[in-house]
Amino acid sequence: MCGIVGAVAERPVGDILLEGLRRLEYRGYDSAGVAIREPNGQLSRRRAVGKVAALEAALSDSPLNGSLGIAHTRWATHGRPTQANAHPHMAGDGDTNELALVHNGIIENYEPLRRQLEAEGVHFSSETDTEVMAHLIRRSMQTHHDLLQAVHQVVSQLEGAYAIAVIHRDAPQQLVCARKGSPLVIGAGMGEHFCGSDPLALLQVTDRFAYLEEGDVARLHLDHFEVLNAQGQPVERPVIRWEHGHQAASKGDFKHFMLKEIHEQPQVLADTLEGRLAGDHVLPQMLGSDAMALLPSVKQVQIVACGTSYHAGMVARYWIERLAGVPCQVEVASEYRYRQVVVPEATLFITISQSGETADTLAALRFAKTQGYLGSLAICNVPGSSLMRESDLTLMTHAGPEIGVASTKAFTTQLTALLLLTLALRQAKGLDDATTREIVDDLRQLPTLCQQVLDLDTQIERLSAAFAEKHHALFLGRGTQFPIALEGALKLKEISYIHAEAYPAGELKHGPLALVDRDMPVIAVAPNDDLLEKLKSNLQEVGARGGELFVFADHAVTIADSEQHHVVKLPAMSEWLAPILFTVPLQLLSYHVAILKGTDVDQPRNLAKSVTVE
Ligand code: G6P
Repeated sequence: MCGIVGAVAERPVGDILLEGLRRLEYRGYDSAGVAIREPNGQLSRRRAVGKVAALEAALSDSPLNGSLGIAHTRWATHGRPTQANAHPHMAGDGDTNELALVHNGIIENYEPLRRQLEAEGVHFSSETDTEVMAHLIRRSMQTHHDLLQAVHQVVSQLEGAYAIAVIHRDAPQQLVCARKGSPLVIGAGMGEHFCGSDPLALLQVTDRFAYLEEGDVARLHLDHFEVLNAQGQPVERPVIRWEHGHQAASKGDFKHFMLKEIHEQPQVLADTLEGRLAGDHVLPQMLGSDAMALLPSVKQVQIVACGTSYHAGMVARYWIERLAGVPCQVEVASEYRYRQVVVPEATLFITISQSGETADTLAALRFAKTQGYLGSLAICNVPGSSLMRESDLTLMTHAGPEIGVASTKAFTTQLTALLLLTLALRQAKGLDDATTREIVDDLRQLPTLCQQVLDLDTQIERLSAAFAEKHHALFLGRGTQFPIALEGALKLKEISYIHAEAYPAGELKHGPLALVDRDMPVIAVAPNDDLLEKLKSNLQEVGARGGELFVFADHAVTIADSEQHHVVKLPAMSEWLAPILFTVPLQLLSYHVAILKGTDVDQPRNLAKSVTVE
């Protein structure tokens, strides 16, 4: 999704803006641009279709110099990815540019606004919804003569989602930014200020950030910033130091962020458990001080999420119903938010999100708040994100920043957090301590076991060769492993572009078996649980049709390795940890297949890390 960086400083900001864009590349985009106020007072811009490197080349041919600027990576929504549609957009009088603006989000009422401006004689040079804002702010400046007030007046007319940054020719040391529905943070430096879609974009210059609230408009000066809330009243937004940022921003010795993030899992799983287990139980205070009062009243759970986070919710459903005895529904946010819902009494509404900014998940939370739920809980990886701020209870996953578009460590830490939550609910319901104790002991083994699974990497890499020439793959699992099969298929699709589907193994005979032949590899996840014997029968069905099988099995499972049956044995583990640990070989498999196919592993085509528009 689009990325924004802005800077007001006393030093030249061109390189800071470019580096910020490079750090936002992981979000996904198809063009990039920058606008700078030059020492002669002119606003100038450079834009390029394609990667940030193309913008860099344009800038080295024709450099820009100045200490006030904004930059953008655009993920096309309104209008194709052309240079004319790339941001920044400008507004001015004839050839003189008065202001430049970058935008992330979608303005839903841009058409009537554009028609009105065109009727007044305004000339548009792009097909974007964004350009409307540039012209509206220019017009508003003629009345207000103050950029902050002008932006505030314009954003109050907008419907939809936006994060914007604006600079004006006549305000050499001011950068105005605003947000509603799309993320934007302020970075506080020494005698300079920045804004960005994501703190990662600004880590090169600061580790102190202020998070804007919905509807806020802010003006950044050299040595301070001021914020107006949606009602136009001055408000304070605290500046918070971000501790773990720096290590996340580099690949270290790894070839890709995705591989680094897969290998970080033992550590981040340990971080997610840290301070949350005590003796033989979990500490419900991990959910915030209100949790103790709320959890005992929960009679139902509704989980809503998107993508990989939705798969985590699907696993949690099995756990919550079995271990806490609480009925649980799970739904993708884009469906849930537009449906007439019937909310059973005392239902806890849970969102799961790595970023905390996914547009559909956030909209689902806002909708849910009007539907009479008992309360809301966000399981999220980004402190200060919209979802975290707007939920009653929060449970942080401590995965650290995830850069690879294909989610890996965020997923396994979400599962870990969901197992902790399930145990907290179980404790609140006063259910038998022995099972809780057993799972708490299991959880303590999780980081070590995860490392042992990672040690199978060479074996998994060898298997990946069988996939490089294939066009389709089928993933099978039962029970909690069905969502893991879905997640395995999603990973393979996302980064290797191989069409992959996942089925609950029991559904094989109801359709997918028709597809099985020697060109359709079948991947099965086979932990040592109650459903193992049933899964083995399903695998026989595949073998009998000449299908090539790749089985990830618990070490105690007896499935013979042969030319058509490739078996990778995982260490002995409890069934509770199996969904978390069986995810890891599927991540590695997708990674190695993508390497063989030569795809862009960290930034797969057409995909975005953070989907902040609908
Ligand atoms: C995008 C990402 C996925 C992610 C999904 C939900 O599609 O590419 O990796 O699972 O959004 O994101 P969230 O931040 O809400 O977990």
